[in-house]
Amino acid sequence: MALIVTQDGSHSVYSERYGVTYHSRYGALTESLHVFIGAGLRFKAAVQTDISVLEVGLGTGLNAFLSWLEAERRNLNVRYTGLENQPLTPEEAALFNYAECAGVPERQADFCRLHTCAWERTVRLSDHFHLRKKRMPVQAYRATEAFDVIYFDAFAPQAQPEMWTEAVFRALHRALRPEGLLVTYCAKGDVKRTLRAVGFEVERLPGPPGKREMTRAWK
Ligand SMILES: C[S@@+](CC[C@H](N)C(=O)[O-])C[C@H]1O[C@@H](n2cnc3c(N)ncnc32)[C@H](O)[C@@H]1O
Repeated sequence: MALIVTQDGSHSVYSERYGVTYHSRYGALTESLHVFIGAGLRFKAAVQTDISVLEVGLGTGLNAFLSWLEAERRNLNVRYTGLENQPLTPEEAALFNYAECAGVPERQADFCRLHTCAWERTVRLSDHFHLRKKRMPVQAYRATEAFDVIYFDAFAPQAQPEMWTEAVFRALHRALRPEGLLVTYCAKGDVKRTLRAVGFEVERLPGPPGKREMTRAWK
């Protein structure tokens, strides 16, 4: 694993296979807080406390960890499903500095639990956070429950175009409850057109540092 340090001091990973990093080089933690927590989970939390989240690309577990912390701070009940077909090992994940960068160094052991807990079943990690990790490609996933929020955190379209297709977005649209939302850091015109083509209403939002815009799409 090629560990890198992004501009806010938080770690990320460089993927040799896709030639891109897992997060923005301007700040992994900053990006995750802005795109997934701010525009996704926190936005939904303004209207409901029971929230089911689907993440496409669990990766380092940063979004899951921040969602867990947010659930505790806001007294939410978050049920989190993470899809990942090429998981990092728990030993690799233990190197990440996300607990420290998030201001909760005492939660490092909890961050590691995200990676050591069982796959393919729902695990209660706290009163506020249940996690189900599924080792499979999103293309093979058929949802058996409805979600309120989808974190679409795939590698960029130019690196992994097979993630940003009509077929994938149609299945994700189907997996959302009415009024459900999908958030992604990507604001490319092609991606927004594909989202609209499968039925999403698409909203442009200011992006995190280094990105002018991001996308929130509604069912
Ligand atoms: C941009 S990284 C983001 C990861 C994660 N959200 C994070 O914060 O570390 C994209 C992730 O998608 C995963 N991935 C690649 N192809 C996938 C697929 N077909 N289905 C599900 N996940 C996939 C990669 O292994 C990687 O972990």
